[in-house]
Amino acid sequence: MAYPYTHPSEVRVLSKYFGDPGARTLKGWEARGGYRPLRKALGMGRGDVVNEVKASGLRGRGGAGFPTGVKWSFMPQASERPHYLLCNADESEPGTFKDRELIRWTPHALIEGCLIGAYAIRAQHAYIYIRGEFFEPTQILAKAIEEAYAAGYIGKNIMGSGVDIDLTLHLGAGAYICGEETGLMNSLEGRRGEPRLKPPFPAVSGVFGKPSTINNVETLIAAALIVENGADWYRQWGTEKSTGTKLFCVSGHVERPGNFEVPMGFNFKEFIYDVCGGIPHGRKLKAVIPGGSSVPILTADEIDIGMDYEAMAAAGTMLGCGSVIVMDDTTDIVKQVRRMVDFYAHESCGQCTPCREGTAWAAKILRRVENGWGTEADLDTLLDISENMSGKTICVLSDAAAAPIVSSIQKFRTDYLALIRRGESLAAAR
Ligand SMILES: Cc1cc2nc3c(=O)[nH]c(=O)nc-3n(C[C@H](O)[C@H](O)[C@H](O)COP(=O)(O)O)c2cc1C
Repeated sequence: MAYPYTHPSEVRVLSKYFGDPGARTLKGWEARGGYRPLRKALGMGRGDVVNEVKASGLRGRGGAGFPTGVKWSFMPQASERPHYLLCNADESEPGTFKDRELIRWTPHALIEGCLIGAYAIRAQHAYIYIRGEFFEPTQILAKAIEEAYAAGYIGKNIMGSGVDIDLTLHLGAGAYICGEETGLMNSLEGRRGEPRLKPPFPAVSGVFGKPSTINNVETLIAAALIVENGADWYRQWGTEKSTGTKLFCVSGHVERPGNFEVPMGFNFKEFIYDVCGGIPHGRKLKAVIPGGSSVPILTADEIDIGMDYEAMAAAGTMLGCGSVIVMDDTTDIVKQVRRMVDFYAHESCGQCTPCREGTAWAAKILRRVENGWGTEADLDTLLDISENMSGKTICVLSDAAAAPIVSSIQKFRTDYLALIRRGESLAAAR
């Protein structure tokens, strides 16, 4: 099958050039209209760039969905201190694989997005913090940055505009916590990747103690397209409060896993059964995680909703970064949750006691239940630990670990009980 498979319901705006190796080179990118958005942005006032992005309703694609233009407008207007634009290309959320694809196919789109973001927030230096394990995307991006420097798109007096912006590609060592914005800043400074207390917020004191803005790869690429085509163009897709298109990464039990770009608000059920081809081997859907492993699980009966921030919140979950993990009726939910919690226990930076102790303790109990040695009281303990892990730590890694525990016990209690009862009867027979 040609890559990428494109469903008729898709609107490929960000992913238009997936599968087109010609778009990777500077010449190829220019031939496809590349660097037009940057030229346009540099001809606009910085405030006008911010206002256009604000008017578009674009919300951050890194997970929290914070409005991008509003975030940009928090940066000081008249400060003499250096400003920094950080691009978060860590892509560490389990189930997510969109940013690395955007970089692999359209590295210059990201460079443009970074330069436009940096211009808007008065930054003279932008950093792309990329996960070091992304070997191929890193090589492609490094080459594109070299080409863009040589062509005068990055550096001093960009395209004769009088604007100077440098761009540095920084490789992380591969830690989930370094995707958290202040953990990333610490890591970039050469410190341990531990999140910082907020306030002060990054716009006041970010990387190197200077005003900083951090955005996800997909966010910055969308922002460049908005500057080129206008806020109304972007608003033609999506809902009132969740505008534009979004890349969704689909993994698990579907006929067609992969990256799909659909307008925000697209029906989730139709997405799974039509765009992704449904569940293989005639099996039934059991559960879906709609936004990366950090968000509450939905049952098969809960998916007739829009793929937008508001509809997902109304259903008790989150759109997150748009990573859809599909599980059919053969899935052992307890095992899946245990694996996720093992991940969070491994990735906890250890600064906050509820996270350090809570994730490890919950993983231990989940393993016990999975192996048939659990009791019903363990479920209460898990809920109690989860309660103490939520809203009580410096960053939300701890909350993220608690979400699948709580939602799975609430929605799939019978699965937990089945393992507990089986263990009890085996013990009685011994
Ligand atoms: C533990 C943790 C890991 C995160 N990992 C990522 C990541 O890999 N990529 C990302 O863009 N955002 C990640 N985030 C969200 C960032 O902290 C931040 O909100 C985001 O980069 C802001 O960009 P946006 O406004 O464009 O969404 C993570 C957050 C947490 C708490």
